[in-house]
Amino acid sequence: MARPRVLSGIQPTADSFHLGNYLGALRQWVKMQETHDAFYCVVDLHAITVQYDPVELRRRTRVAAAQLFAVGLDPDRCTVFVQSHVPEHTELAWVLICLTGMGEASRMTQFKDKAAKYGEGAASVGLFTYPILQAADILLYHADQVPVGADQKQHLELTRDLAQRFNHRFGETFTLPSPYILKEVEKITDLQDPTAKMSKSSSSPQGILDLLEQPNTLRKKIMRAVTDTGTEIVADEENKPGITNLLRILSALTGTSIPELEKRYAGQGYGTFKKDVAEAVIETFTPIRERAEKLLADEAELDRMLAVGAERARAVARETMEKVRDRAGF
Ligand code: ADP
Ligand code: NA
Repeated sequence: MARPRVLSGIQPTADSFHLGNYLGALRQWVKMQETHDAFYCVVDLHAITVQYDPVELRRRTRVAAAQLFAVGLDPDRCTVFVQSHVPEHTELAWVLICLTGMGEASRMTQFKDKAAKYGEGAASVGLFTYPILQAADILLYHADQVPVGADQKQHLELTRDLAQRFNHRFGETFTLPSPYILKEVEKITDLQDPTAKMSKSSSSPQGILDLLEQPNTLRKKIMRAVTDTGTEIVADEENKPGITNLLRILSALTGTSIPELEKRYAGQGYGTFKKDVAEAVIETFTPIRERAEKLLADEAELDRMLAVGAERARAVARETMEKVRDRAGF
């Protein structure tokens, strides 16, 4: 039987992906290339829905792509591409925009959250229609499954509604995608503010562990991670969020359960424990960084890999758009 097709995208909005992105998304993408017919894209067109700098965007898109290959996505086993290399994304988005009701689009809660940052009326229409471009990303490839976290469920519902509406109005064209629930990785939190999630928009870079960071920097950040003044290394989200976060990180990176780690570190100080967390992070990140650096130094090779991905993606996207055009009357 054919493997289910899966589509997932990630925005190139920072200079490096962080540990949260790695554990919450990228590491799972690598596993999915064994079980799925996987399409992964760097969604640069989503990144222009907010203010941005074109030179930065172009650079970050390449750095993002290099990291996807560096974590282990293999062009022989999955399709990695840049969204803007496949113009069918925006063409289908327009068709879907015309099928979306204003009321329906207005109910997307993520827009409300993001727009709130800009103040009433200042957010772009692109930010408003973002979930519809996302629907186009998914439907173009007839994805059977889409990995989703809780915050994306509403967008997948919209995608399914739009697919159904098009099929009903113009004839069977799109596959209705199902949610693929990722292995629940609890949120990795900020090292300096262990009750907030680690995020590229964190207030201080000291709280984030970047994939492309040097070992010394990673070690320093972890040794300076905020903890409580106690001495016990036990998971206790409420009273010891910092230690709990470090336990979660060490457990995720080594495959050792948290109760086992608690046993191992019983009677030991925070210093020894933090050193071990740092070594685990460094051991995971170093080969990734080295592969990414090598790819970024070889522009032609990275271009070639992205061209292979774009070619494969376009073959599918073009065929879908031919059907769409035919059925929609143009
Ligand atoms: P950010 O929060 O830095 O803006 P994104 O929202 O772009 O990151 O997230 C991209 C992917 O990484 C998503 O699949 C998201 O679930 C995952 N992710 C982001 N931050 C974390 C985190 N702190 N812990 C676990 N997963 C995360
Ligand atoms: Na985000």
